[in-house]
Amino acid sequence: MAEQTTINAALAGTIDIGGDLSVNRFGFGAMRLTGEGIWGEPRDPEECKRVLRRVLELGINLIDTADSYGPQVSERLIAEALYPYPDELVIATKGGLTRPGPNRWNPNGRPEHLRAACEGSLKRLRVDRIDVYQLHRPDPEVPFEESVGTLVELKNEGKIRHIALSNVTVDELERAQKLTPIVSVQNRYSLFERSSEPVLEACSLEDVAFIPWRPVEGGEVISAGGAVGQIAMKYRATPTQVALAWLLAHSPVMLPIPGTSKVAHLEENLGAVALELAPAELAELDQLAVEG
Ligand SMILES: NC(=O)c1ccc[n+]([C@@H]2O[C@H](COP(=O)([O-])OP(=O)(O)OC[C@H]3O[C@@H](n4cnc5c(N)ncnc54)[C@H](OP(=O)(O)O)[C@@H]3O)[C@@H](O)[C@H]2O)c1
Repeated sequence: MAEQTTINAALAGTIDIGGDLSVNRFGFGAMRLTGEGIWGEPRDPEECKRVLRRVLELGINLIDTADSYGPQVSERLIAEALYPYPDELVIATKGGLTRPGPNRWNPNGRPEHLRAACEGSLKRLRVDRIDVYQLHRPDPEVPFEESVGTLVELKNEGKIRHIALSNVTVDELERAQKLTPIVSVQNRYSLFERSSEPVLEACSLEDVAFIPWRPVEGGEVISAGGAVGQIAMKYRATPTQVALAWLLAHSPVMLPIPGTSKVAHLEENLGAVALELAPAELAELDQLAVEG
């Protein structure tokens, strides 16, 4: 029988998180382990747990989640499937959004809410300290420094190991950095959506990990034609793999976290780490967003 080779996330290389954590540069986004509208239980909870166990088998050691996914469902499933966690696993969660219903996300960056959210995540994830805690989104009703300051207090109390941000501008990143070290920024970014390029550049300059959310455009990349389709065909790869390989090549601080509720999609997506695109192909893909 032919020897079976399994692709491992280690092929993507590693990235430093906060000076004392190192993860493979290909993570997993756990938002899709929930029901429709990121609300309630997933349709197939057992497959979701298989996905989480396969994540670890494939060498992925950063899982991204949030208290608001479900809400609570994603964090709970992670603990149910993976606790006790292996030492190398880094779980990055978030607080700062409330969920009045399916597809609805309301910012709440008030200190009392962030404290309660962090306590809830500690309990659900069954940990004493959260490795990476991300402010999910600045709350326009609350001074940004007050929200970040609460995370600094939680860190000083030993409940958070590292502080991170999500959905921020360069200005907000710099303001937060005046208060505390920021280990990562998670903004929407993909081959087709690059409005956060300035934030990515700021992260590159300072060796802050940049975590692009919606890296495969919610699955829509599967039908990409044009240059993406042609390059995919040449390598017998899928457009989704090409989009992820481009992300990995685009910046050394890029840490994609494609999400899925299916083992087959997880394995397909990880295939991107073995796909090395030629410089001319990367340059052609670079042009896609410029052309719109
Ligand atoms: N910070 C924020 O504000 C924010 C916002 C959104 C997301 N996030 C984080 O970023 C992660 C990724 O974002 P995302 O889930 O919105 O978008 P994404 O990773 O671009 O796409 C995930 C969607 O694409 C589908 N998909 C994935 N791989 C596929 C494949 N190979 N073939 C076909 N379909 C595929 C999945 O469906 P199946 O389940 O059917 O595979 C899922 O619906 C989330 O899990 C979450 O951790 C953060």
